[in-house]
Amino acid sequence: MKKGKNQLIDSFGRVARKLRLSVIDRCNFRCNFCMPITPAWMPRQELLSYEEIVRVTRILTSLGIEKVKITGGEPLLRKDIDKLIELLAQIRGINSLSMTTNGYFLMDMAWKLKKAGLGGITLSLHSLKEEKYEKIVGRSGVFERVLKGLEEAKKAEFNPLKINVVITRGCNDNEILDFVELARQSGLIVRFIEYMPFDGRNIWNKKLVVKGEEIISLIKSKYELVKEDRNAGDTAVNFRFTDGTPGGIGIITSMSSPFCKDCDRIRITADGKLVPCLFSDKTYDLKSIIRSNATDEEVANYILASFKKKFRGVETLVNKDIKNVRPMYTVGG
Ligand code: GTP
Ligand code: 5AD
Ligand code: SF4
Repeated sequence: MKKGKNQLIDSFGRVARKLRLSVIDRCNFRCNFCMPITPAWMPRQELLSYEEIVRVTRILTSLGIEKVKITGGEPLLRKDIDKLIELLAQIRGINSLSMTTNGYFLMDMAWKLKKAGLGGITLSLHSLKEEKYEKIVGRSGVFERVLKGLEEAKKAEFNPLKINVVITRGCNDNEILDFVELARQSGLIVRFIEYMPFDGRNIWNKKLVVKGEEIISLIKSKYELVKEDRNAGDTAVNFRFTDGTPGGIGIITSMSSPFCKDCDRIRITADGKLVPCLFSDKTYDLKSIIRSNATDEEVANYILASFKKKFRGVETLVNKDIKNVRPMYTVGG
């Protein structure tokens, strides 16, 4: 699509095509890199209603948004989420509707989500060892259930079906090759993510970040990989196995090699704030505009003007003082 007057373009000329829609900040897990042990949840009445979410998404598609990623907190905790998916799936102009989830509810919900029109699922799975997994997510007795959820998602044939692993040094960096084996055996795409400073506990520190290049050279010591072409705006650099084994791996190098240059994302938090850049503390109060009887055109103009001010986050901050702008659960990654 060409750049046009009614497109989301920021002052660096970047065009937004993807929306990350956080539908709830609550989560049944407490991953240590994402949220404090006792988070302060947004009051429920502050959340955008489904009607409001659908309206904003429709307006955003008229401004060039084509892909929608539903996130949380844990999006499957939002009541009747399948109803929202059904409504979003009907919006003309959306060619990709996917979700990032911790997988706990997938065992029961995978098929419902599929029927509602959800296309892809990314499941966050940070260890393959029960005890360690449960330590990371801060909950016990959940590991087996998440694995069953993954099996259901496979049966329901979500496409793509990906696994996200946030790697932290000294915690799960000794499992990288096990995850590669999982990719090879399951045919899924496993993506290793560099730990970002959004933990809500102020425990992030540079030394805990395992760089993507370190991960890849470890994997290359055992498997031959071919790098795939990266589509502009993608978070991940993907690789496949030269021996023809299905499945693949990806690295998301948000910290060591930021992709701000072609970032094409805009975010909306569950309480209706527009977040142009993950690494900036600047947000825009879209909900107040929506609730002020503004017309679609007025809402669109507000979004266009806010997006214009999008920052070049990590790229600007890297090697400087990267601060803990916000805990990840409040924005959904
Ligand atoms: P796909 O479209 O399915 O590839 O999803 P995605 O990689 O955009 O999203 P996902 O929810 O799987 O997030 C993967 C990782 O990328 C998470 O750690 C996100 O926080 C990170 N991420 C997502 N968007 C951005 C961004 O705009 N900037 C940076 N630096 N990291 C991001
Ligand atoms: N750094 C990197 N990724 C994170 N996620 C949550 N917190 C962090 C962090 N501090 C991941 C989630 C999910 C995705 C949206 O972001 O586990 O897979
Ligand atoms: Fe919940 Fe996902 Fe954050 Fe873990 S990373 S606490 S599963 S929102």
